[in-house]
Amino acid sequence: MQNYILQMEQITKSFSGVKALEDVTFQVKKGEIHALVGENGAGKSTLMKILSGVYKKNEYEGRILVQGKEQRFMGTRDAEKAGISIIYQELNLIKSMSICENIFLGCERRNNGVIQWNEQYRQTKELLDKVRLKENPGTMVGVLGVGKQQLIEIAKALNKNARLIILDEPTASLTEVETEILMDILRELKKEGVTCIYISHKLDEVFHIADRVTVLRDGKVIVTKNISEVSESSLISYMVGRELTQRFPHEEHHAGEVILEVKDWSVRNPVISDKKLIDHVQFQVKKGEILGIAGLMGAGRTELALSLFGILKPTQDSQLYFKGRKIQIRSPKQAIRRGISYVSEDRKRYGLVMDKDIRTNMSLASLSKLVRYGVINGNLEITRTHQYMRELKIKASSIQQKVKNLSGGNQQKVILAKWMLTSPEVLILDEPTRGVDVGAKYEIYQIMNRLVAQGVAIVMISSELPEIIGMSDRIYVMHEGKINGELNREEATQERILYSAAGGRQETYVG
Ligand SMILES: Nc1ncnc2c1ncn2[C@@H]1O[C@H](COP(=O)(O)OP(=O)(O)OP(=O)(O)O)[C@@H](O)[C@H]1O
Ligand SMILES: [Mg+2]
Repeated sequence: MQNYILQMEQITKSFSGVKALEDVTFQVKKGEIHALVGENGAGKSTLMKILSGVYKKNEYEGRILVQGKEQRFMGTRDAEKAGISIIYQELNLIKSMSICENIFLGCERRNNGVIQWNEQYRQTKELLDKVRLKENPGTMVGVLGVGKQQLIEIAKALNKNARLIILDEPTASLTEVETEILMDILRELKKEGVTCIYISHKLDEVFHIADRVTVLRDGKVIVTKNISEVSESSLISYMVGRELTQRFPHEEHHAGEVILEVKDWSVRNPVISDKKLIDHVQFQVKKGEILGIAGLMGAGRTELALSLFGILKPTQDSQLYFKGRKIQIRSPKQAIRRGISYVSEDRKRYGLVMDKDIRTNMSLASLSKLVRYGVINGNLEITRTHQYMRELKIKASSIQQKVKNLSGGNQQKVILAKWMLTSPEVLILDEPTRGVDVGAKYEIYQIMNRLVAQGVAIVMISSELPEIIGMSDRIYVMHEGKINGELNREEATQERILYSAAGGRQETYVG
């Protein structure tokens, strides 16, 4: 069939006896944007890894046809040669290398064996223009936020002249504005005839960009439809196998006394020292409330969290009060001892030890609480691990499964459990539901509500405005390192938040 660029037929794949995909048939038309959706662990990434040659021909059953011709990929290079490029869910750039080096890694432009740096720089500049990133090709990738890194991954795929691009949750770490840019880029690519498979848990995006959609559940295809033929609620019920009437559990929070307060809180930019990442911020967090922090990428939200947690150093005159007493936090260890925990947005960097199992990862931050008479209480550790596996519905074969073998959303749940196990009094959550499916999001919100009812103060940084609005009692909006607006639950709307995030003042808001 000519109008299909891709036909995957009867794909079955098991991991040590457990079926991750079963008899999956998936067809993509030339030039379309085809969304692939489903719960965490449904098999989306696994299917795409088969398509992109990560899993070799002998590691699964079934056939792959590209432009009608059967392909047997023995590696990602083979898939790339067939015009297929994948951008992974977990970013794969090398942080200690420049943008240019990353983009040309493994496909250097050479002349008589000599790398053509000038040529590579020029092309990198063009590619960065295309993804609308104003960065120097020589900039080290490690200093950029995850959002920008994502755009570099896209530039890298474009550089390989891909005809079929797979984006596995491309916008998980992008804010609204960058997401818009990405959507524009995809539409442009579509005009140029590039086909795209788009995996996302953000259904509004799926409706915005996709031509067709396929739903996977428990490793099986449930349905493939034109996007115009499905509603959001029907799509959700295909995904989770039941109706989901509410997105946010409504519950009254009862804020208590102020537990944490910062005054004149500033953090210098480590690279350009006269620029401030955080600029004289003041705020308070109360026991039993959820404080939302909104803002665009680069507004300083994560830096604020990192500085409260002892990873970034605040300036001399910055003051931190915890339960009314002035304290200093110089390391994450000190923060944890005080009862402040931080769930990072970047799970590879601060969150998880990928090579270790679920149990080890979960208890890593709370070892001191698990120790009895100088030895780790293994039984308690196991009980607690099982408890969180159950509560968060973590999909894994056992608590001994290595974290790197979990699906992206399930990794996120392990991180959450890890920090909940520290029994924090202040819990800072940075993008807590990134990559988590709609059903599991609800579970996480319920757990947040439960913690708050027990008196925990939650600071939630999120780029998802519905989540900020749906869950927060109060909202601070950050802009260029400052808090540019405070909204309470009743006042908060997407428009108002975006207005503040862009630098507008609430006093002058007309809307
Ligand atoms: N290398 C592996 N070893 C063992 N099990 C694995 C491995 N990779 C994936 N799995 C399992 O296969 C199933 C499907 O995982 P997959 O990563 O494809 O899910 P997903 O649909 O991409 O989910 P998410 O939305 O969370 O990213 C999961 O149960 C996962 O634990
Ligand atoms: Mg995945």
